[in-house]
Amino acid sequence: MGSATNPPGQTRLIKHFSGRAVEDQGSGWSALWDSNESDLWDRGSPSITLVDLVTQQQEIFSPYTADGRRKKALVPGCGKGYDPVMLALHGFDVYGLDISATGVSEARGYAASELQRPQGYNFSSGNSECPADVGSVNFIKGNVFGSEWERQALNGDEKFDLVYDYTFLCALHPDLRRQWADRMGQLLRQGGLLVCLEFPMYKDPSLPGPPWGLKGVHWDLLARGGDGVANIAKEPEDATVGELAGQFRRVQYFKPPRSYENGKGTDMLSIYARK
Ligand SMILES: C[S@@+](CC[C@H](N)C(=O)[O-])C[C@H]1O[C@@H](n2cnc3c(N)ncnc32)[C@H](O)[C@@H]1O
Repeated sequence: MGSATNPPGQTRLIKHFSGRAVEDQGSGWSALWDSNESDLWDRGSPSITLVDLVTQQQEIFSPYTADGRRKKALVPGCGKGYDPVMLALHGFDVYGLDISATGVSEARGYAASELQRPQGYNFSSGNSECPADVGSVNFIKGNVFGSEWERQALNGDEKFDLVYDYTFLCALHPDLRRQWADRMGQLLRQGGLLVCLEFPMYKDPSLPGPPWGLKGVHWDLLARGGDGVANIAKEPEDATVGELAGQFRRVQYFKPPRSYENGKGTDMLSIYARK
């Protein structure tokens, strides 16, 4: 796959992962962190789409449950930690998980300075603020498919109230997609929300990644219970879809007014509720 069809960073990523076994994908990401190549994907700020969502839909994204408990959020494959820190600034207790020790260390450093003096990009207004009610943020080194890290985040049978995925599913080899969906189902409580900023939607799913093209994949995995690879049917445009075989019900689906430039105006925002 040549640079004529991919931005240079993506060409480098595809080359790095080309021919790498599925079980060696995690070490492939750690190697990129250790060779100081996180700029291949790092965008330097939290997802503005998620900032807008938690600001504008306060009923759904209240950081408290009906019985007054602070909600627990997870950001798997969190990279430098922009989204976990932003969610903590909006009142959630957040866990950022990444397979790379270097990545986790950078995220901890970022959080330490950002929580002291939060920048305007954490808020819909764009203005720097010091919010009154800030949750906690913790970064854990771990593999999302393993369970060893869960003890650090969850007590006993506890589960997460919210999971945010941006550029994590698209970073995974397609053979891991079904496992990703099952894992999301295990980690979220009933009624818990999986929020996905779907990217890249413009890329032909048959082309190599990462990032792997995901058009129709979230819906296939989460609502239909498919493997996210074969027989992906055309995705319904309606936000909500009727009862299907998957572990999740789609409750919102729209093109966000604000997202990243490199989504080329094609990023979609989906919210799935755990059945
Ligand atoms: C494309 S990067 C995206 C990072 C971050 N979401 C962002 O927007 O900057 C994918 C991240 O997932 C991490 N990762 C890959 N496989 C993982 C796994 N199995 N468990 C946890 N983290 C993983 C990588 O180390 C990397 O930081």
